Amino acid sequence: MNIILLTGGTSGIGKETVKGLAITDATVVFTARDREKGEEVKREIIKETNNNNVDYLVCDLASLSSVRACAREFAERWDRLDILINNAGVLPQERQESRDGIELNFAVNFLAPFLLTNLLLPLLKQSAPARIINVSSSMHAEGNINFDDLESKKAFDKYKAYAQSKLALLLFTKKLAKELQGTGVTVNALHPGVIGTEMTMRNVRTMNPIAAFFFKRTLITPAQGAKTSVYLATSPDVAGVTGEYFDKKKIAAASPLADDTALADKLWDISAKLVGL
Ligand SMILES: NC(=O)c1ccc[n+]([C@@H]2O[C@H](COP(=O)([O-])OP(=O)(O)OC[C@H]3O[C@@H](n4cnc5c(N)ncnc54)[C@H](OP(=O)(O)O)[C@@H]3O)[C@@H](O)[C@H]2O)c1
Repeated sequence: MNIILLTGGTSGIGKETVKGLAITDATVVFTARDREKGEEVKREIIKETNNNNVDYLVCDLASLSSVRACAREFAERWDRLDILINNAGVLPQERQESRDGIELNFAVNFLAPFLLTNLLLPLLKQSAPARIINVSSSMHAEGNINFDDLESKKAFDKYKAYAQSKLALLLFTKKLAKELQGTGVTVNALHPGVIGTEMTMRNVRTMNPIAAFFFKRTLITPAQGAKTSVYLATSPDVAGVTGEYFDKKKIAAASPLADDTALADKLWDISAKLVGL
């Protein structure tokens, strides 16, 4: 019976992924920023799936100390981790900073999963075969790693900052996959599709009405958006597959920058210093 940890299970793709996993006999633990919301989602999913092994941990991914506390609590309460899904993400409309004073896209979409994964690696290795799944975005292809202004202090563009964070997650995925060769732990990334979740709709409200009207017609549902995450977590077809980027349950071409090992090495070093690893 798999033990799964997913970040950001309280809404959108994450909540649907928890549901999709809870209908198997897995233990599914999700993170919630807010205890009340965590309780509410836990109750709803247990009722809908009849799986009593659904639980949550309170974790604010915009706080490195909260990420550390979450990894610690998980390891204290569960003795195995078969699947880690780094799902939570943000796309803020304005430049914002985390509790540690780090630009929010970079902090939540990349540094938090970077730290959480590294802290949970001993448990994942001990539980092998194990899988790590990173929810990136096709937007990574619009991104670059701007070492001169990683945190958009000089200039902030919401799409560039988001795209950079999702490219960073892919660079991390590919470098980690190489480091984990032979351990039985795989790590892959994915694009979930373009979905009408809270994150997207907040952005749609800033579009001109005609563009918004046509864009909304292209959106898929959160349940459809959860499919590739559930597939990567559960399918025997991808046992042993590692370092890949998936779209619609298939291996897809990522930006050539995602394979730049010098970029990945430099980003890893800077990130490790930022999170105190
Ligand atoms: N929607 C799309 O079209 C799309 C496309 C490509 C990739 N993605 C990626 O898919 C993932 C899920 O996004 P979504 O569309 O489902 O968005 P969503 O509905 O806004 O859900 C985001 C989740 O992340 C959590 N979260 C946000 N900030 C957090 C923080 N500081 N600490 C802990 N949890 C936090 C949210 O918790 P709360 O409930 O407390 O807010 C929520 O559970 C993200 O990584 C996103 O970048 C989405």
